[in-house]
Amino acid sequence: MISLSKQSIASREKKIFSKVLQSGKITRGKYIEEFEKKVCKYTKSKYAVAVNSASSALFLAYSVFLKKNDIVWTSPVTFISTISGAIHLGSKIDFVDIGKDFNIDPLILQAKLKKTKRQKLPSVVTTVHLRGVPADQDKIAILSKKYNFKVIEDASHSFGASYKNQNVGSCKWSDMTILSFHPSKSITTGEGGMILTNNLFYYRKLLLLRNNGIIKNVKQPWKYKYFSIGHNFWMNEIQAALGISQLNKLNTLISKRKKISKYYDSKLNQTSYFVNSQYVNKSNSYHLYLLKCKNKQTKSRFMEYLKKRGIETTTHYISLHLQPFFKSYKLNKKLLKNSETYTNHYFSIPIYPDLKKKKQDYIIKCILNFK
Ligand SMILES: Cc1ncc(COP(=O)(O)O)c(C=O)c1O
Repeated sequence: MISLSKQSIASREKKIFSKVLQSGKITRGKYIEEFEKKVCKYTKSKYAVAVNSASSALFLAYSVFLKKNDIVWTSPVTFISTISGAIHLGSKIDFVDIGKDFNIDPLILQAKLKKTKRQKLPSVVTTVHLRGVPADQDKIAILSKKYNFKVIEDASHSFGASYKNQNVGSCKWSDMTILSFHPSKSITTGEGGMILTNNLFYYRKLLLLRNNGIIKNVKQPWKYKYFSIGHNFWMNEIQAALGISQLNKLNTLISKRKKISKYYDSKLNQTSYFVNSQYVNKSNSYHLYLLKCKNKQTKSRFMEYLKKRGIETTTHYISLHLQPFFKSYKLNKKLLKNSETYTNHYFSIPIYPDLKKKKQDYIIKCILNFK
C-alpha cells in the first residue's frame, strides 16, 4: 500500500535518541527550551509552548479564552480536535462555511456575524489552514476587532507556509497559532504540538496549564504552589531534540512536497480531477494533494479503484456537521453547502517528502486510467 503520508527521518537523526538518553534528563530540560526558541525565531512569534499534541495545544488555547457556555465558531472541514477542546470546556459551537480555498470564507463569516444577536456572538473563531494553504487571517483579524472575538489559527497543516510574507505562526493576525508535529505533518516529533503567541499574559497562563497549574519558587523549589487546575501536557526531551533537527530541514521538506505537488499538477491539470493549490499572497506547505470528482458516486468508485491498486486515499475531512456526534446540535445544513460539496466531491492522494518518483508515476498512471 502506498500510504497517504509518512514521516521523513534520516538515519543520522536516530542518533538523537541515544544522545538525549545519555544526557540523563529526558523531560523538562534544555531541548524543550531550545526547540521553542527556534520555532519562535523561524515564525517570528514571541512565545512558544511545546506540548504533546496539537489536540492538547488546542485544548490549552481554549482553556485560556473560554468560560462555560461561551461560543466558538470554526470551519467544519477539519479534524475533530480543532473544536473538541472547546466542547470539553462546555462551550457552544457553530460552523462557518468554507470558501474557494476550502478555509473559512471571511465574507460568509462577516455575513453570519452581522445577522447574529449580540449575546450569541462567538468569543473565539478558530481558522484552519486546510491542506497547508493559510486562511485569510488579515480579513478575519479586522472582524475580530469589530465583533470582539479572539482568533486561534489551527495551523496543524501549514507549518512552513506563509501568508502575505509572514510565516505561519507569526500570530500577526491572531491571538494564538497551533502547530502539530504528528508524523504526517511538515515536521514530526512522533506526537507533538506547539502553541505560539505574542501575548505574555497568555504565554504565562499556557505554561501554568501545561504544568498541572504549578509554579515553583526557583530558589526554594520545595515551595511549590498550585495557581490553577492544569494538565501534564509536556513534550519530552527526546521529542524536542528530534523537533530541533526536523526544524533545520523544514524548508527542504516543504520543497520536496512542492516538487511532488507540481509534478502531479503537470500530469493532471488537463483532467477534471485537478484542484488548484496556488493562491495570491499565500505560500502552501503542500500537506495534502486533493482530487475532485463530479459526484459522490464517482468519488466512492474512484477511491475503491485506487484502494484495489494499493493506493491509500481519504477525505480530509468529512464535514463535522455531517458527523453523528453533531446531530443533536441541529445545525443549519443549508448554510454549510460548500462544506457538504467538499465532503462529497474531494479526496486526498499520497504526498510526503520521500515519496519516490516511481510511486508518483504509478499513482498518476492509475488516476489517468480511471474510467
Ligand atoms: C486540522 C487539524 N487540527 C488538529 C489536529 C490534531 O493534531 P494532533 O494529532 O497533533 O493532536 C489535526 C490532526 O490531524 C488536524 O488535521
